[in-house]
Amino acid sequence: MAFAVRKFDAVIVGAGGSGMRAALQLAEADLKVAVLSKVFPTRSHTVAAQGGVAASLGNNGEDNWHWHMFDTVKGSDYLGDQDAIEFMCRKANEVVYELEHYGMPFDRTPEGRIYQRPFGGQTRNYGEGPVARSCAAADRTGHAMLHALYQRNVRARAHFFVEWMALDLIRNAEGDVVGVTAMEMETGEVVIFHAKAVLFATGGAGRIFSASTNAFINTGDGLGITARAGIPLEDMEFWQFHPTGVAGAGVLITEGVRGEGGYLLNKNGERFMERYAPTVKDLASRDVVSRAMATEIKEGRGAGKDGEYILLKLDHLGADVINKRLPGIREIALKFANVDCAKDPIPVVPTVHYQMGGIPTNYHGQVVVPKDGNMETIVPGLYAVGECACVSVHGANRLGTNSLLDLLVFGKSAGEQVIRDLNADPGLKDLPPDAGEFTRARLARLDDQTNGESVSQVGADMRRTLQLHCGVFRFPDLLVEGVAKIKEIAARAVHTEIKDKSKVFNTARIEALELENLIEVARSTMVCAEARKESRGAHDRSDFPDRDDKNWMRHSLWYKEGDRLEYRPVKLKPLTVAPFEPKARVY
Ligand code: FUM
Repeated sequence: MAFAVRKFDAVIVGAGGSGMRAALQLAEADLKVAVLSKVFPTRSHTVAAQGGVAASLGNNGEDNWHWHMFDTVKGSDYLGDQDAIEFMCRKANEVVYELEHYGMPFDRTPEGRIYQRPFGGQTRNYGEGPVARSCAAADRTGHAMLHALYQRNVRARAHFFVEWMALDLIRNAEGDVVGVTAMEMETGEVVIFHAKAVLFATGGAGRIFSASTNAFINTGDGLGITARAGIPLEDMEFWQFHPTGVAGAGVLITEGVRGEGGYLLNKNGERFMERYAPTVKDLASRDVVSRAMATEIKEGRGAGKDGEYILLKLDHLGADVINKRLPGIREIALKFANVDCAKDPIPVVPTVHYQMGGIPTNYHGQVVVPKDGNMETIVPGLYAVGECACVSVHGANRLGTNSLLDLLVFGKSAGEQVIRDLNADPGLKDLPPDAGEFTRARLARLDDQTNGESVSQVGADMRRTLQLHCGVFRFPDLLVEGVAKIKEIAARAVHTEIKDKSKVFNTARIEALELENLIEVARSTMVCAEARKESRGAHDRSDFPDRDDKNWMRHSLWYKEGDRLEYRPVKLKPLTVAPFEPKARVY
């Protein structure tokens, strides 16, 4: 039976901050927009972004976009593209004020302005000391943002498809994207969404690791779909470990705790960040703080029975400040660590949090690939924004609260680009005769497979492999072994079986489909990490301990077919200002 076809101007896959910001731009322009989401929009993973959204409003001390740009370039360890970084930092105030006008309940200064707190790597006057740049709604900024954007989208009449999972892109003979297949998760019904534009906003894939701050929905669906469609993934070796995940649970404790004055201690009660980052201490960038914590643990100064964690102290802030600025943290610490942080420190460890790499795009959200000598050929009809995209503004290490900013700035700019593209070429291109057949074959394989392994077994092996072979510190032998292991696991993943089909709810099928996406992310991560022979940002190799600007100022592009790698140079030229030249990164 043929799949049903539904026609839209644009289909957005993912209803987190970036997807809903893009959808809003399109719906307010009276375009017919479908937004597909595996969960109810306000439960998207943006909900877990706690501490704030970066913008140089200067409400708590002097600030400007050029300082923000400097910090972001330096934070990226000079791998970020400076055109996109300038674009983002210049647009920050505009998109935050827009959000305020959508009804976002930011905290306020005594004068009634948006409240701002310091975050790691955000500094005044090009590195002199911390600046308060993160606009916060207590420690629930992402949560508040989702509600503001969702309500605005409902008003603008975006069409939400809740509990729908995208499966595969549909490209015509010219390679233009003309739609996407998607499954209603409750019924298993597959529909072809035929559209002039497909925009991925599917978020990250932190679930390739065993310990992660990411929600279970973060399975890299947009990345898997893109890789299967022959499009490369960029800079997949760069994964951010957030310094403060609750030990043993992985749940995020916002960096805003340190922004409000909390700090890290080793088992001797020493404030060890003073040794690693003498100027900004606990507010160094995340890669620096995570490495310092891992070093303390490795060298026997970790706290706990087995010396396995670090202590995050904030009781000195007092219960009033904690309850006002960090109420969610108090609740998380109580529930996941059995600690009242107004009295005792929270046990924390660096935990996988964010993928800097993703689907290659320019700062208009257009997906760009190398073709015929042009490194940035646009894939017509395809756009990507948010964590699933690599613009690249975060380079080798993202700064805290630049992620919510990325969602707003590039969600909006991609929406504007789709409008421009649809004005220039308003027609709906035909579906190819075999539209949906690739999806049908994948589903048939899953339904017919017998004597295969269970999805959970293969998934657990994948997560263990990434955790062990691609951590905060990376070692040459472990990287080589990790590549071999993940290729073997990927080969097993195409023979997974949905066990006991008669008894399981449709979720087993969804988990099998998600694993197929996660595997592409895991494989690209291991292959790119093994290939990059330097240390930069979050990628730290024992055999190449230094950054190598001569050979590695370039972005990795991984193709699924044959695990092929290509590279493209970092864009060092900003849009209007002088470049920030690479130099040693100290905090
Ligand atoms: O620490 C945090 O609140 C996380 C924010 C972010 O990842 O940007």
